[in-house]
Amino acid sequence: MTTFPDNRVVIFDTTLRDGEQSPGATMTHAEKLEIAAMLDDMGVDVIEAGFPIASDGDFAAVSEIAKNAQTATICGLARANFKDIDRCWEAVKHAKSPRIHTFIGTSPLHRAIPNLTRDEMADKIHETVTHARNLCDNVQWSPMDATRTEWDYLARTVEIAIRAGATTINIPDTVGYTAPNESAELIRRLIAEVPGAEDVIFATHCHNDLGMATANSLAAVEGGARQIECTINGLGERAGNTALEEVVMALKVRHDIMPFTTGVDSRKLMAISRRVASVSGFAVQFNKAIVGKNAFAHESGIHQDGMLKNAETFEIMRPEDVGLTETSLVMGKHSGRAALKSKLAELGYEVEANQLADVFVRFKTLADQKKEIFDDDLIALMQDEERSG
Ligand code: KIV
Ligand code: ZN
Repeated sequence: MTTFPDNRVVIFDTTLRDGEQSPGATMTHAEKLEIAAMLDDMGVDVIEAGFPIASDGDFAAVSEIAKNAQTATICGLARANFKDIDRCWEAVKHAKSPRIHTFIGTSPLHRAIPNLTRDEMADKIHETVTHARNLCDNVQWSPMDATRTEWDYLARTVEIAIRAGATTINIPDTVGYTAPNESAELIRRLIAEVPGAEDVIFATHCHNDLGMATANSLAAVEGGARQIECTINGLGERAGNTALEEVVMALKVRHDIMPFTTGVDSRKLMAISRRVASVSGFAVQFNKAIVGKNAFAHESGIHQDGMLKNAETFEIMRPEDVGLTETSLVMGKHSGRAALKSKLAELGYEVEANQLADVFVRFKTLADQKKEIFDDDLIALMQDEERSG
């Protein structure tokens, strides 16, 4: 297993497992292989490739992804029983670096489903993590619904999993219930109080039901977590999971206050975002942070003027850093003269001050009738201007 410096955060992508669990987001076998190859190539550390016991298709995809992976660790999910764990191992064992991820719901609500007492569940955790560890030296254990599990029971089960051989302890906020201060404190306390905690990596796995998944994940890192579980575009059940592109860029742009690094090449974010949107059928909202169509687009006159003079006035990241070639100045009714002049020059029209004043009036009239003015609209406007002028 790779060991990293203290400030290195492991990026664990679960687009192909938790992301695909999103109703309607099913991907084909070939699409899964393609997304896995892109994740591997961009420097994601761990790819959770699927849930091998779930179907023969999932098993086949995880096995092939495991065979193809170049540098990423390939992980499969398994419930807390030997059959799931064995099937998971059969799929991931082909990888250069395989991992078994096994989980059980530890909160009172989840304990009630299999109707296990605290002690019975504790025994099950011990047996299943031991079994996984006998197969694979890289084992992740998750107490599902950790953030709604009683503190004493959570601490007890984490200790049992560590003693049984888990190498990563993941703390899921399964229903997106926690808040940043609580997320940081929970990890801090587990690391401080659970015997053996210093020998494992703590991970954070957040859902976005209250829109706090990214903030909660980053707070968990402040508390000592060194693995963030996330998905491309935040794809995932209900309101989704922590978005990979958000945590990667937050750690890069605000390195001054969050001095942690990842191995992800951020210039590959836009391409994978578009591909995941296309294969999952889940379009990215226009104003989505980092990868939305409008994330680097400016329409208002004040913003466009500022951008033309110095891009840092209204952008905290360079578009190239996320894989875009340039900022887009969208022409619309809020655009000003400077942006119009610059756009016309781009289209090959050099206009004098007098002509610009005239064209600007025509442009505003048109912009009042259309949401967005495209290059062809401006060319038509200029041709009309030349005819009438
Ligand atoms: O959200 C969750 O609790 C999960 C677990 C299986 C880790 O996805
Ligand atoms: Zn989840």
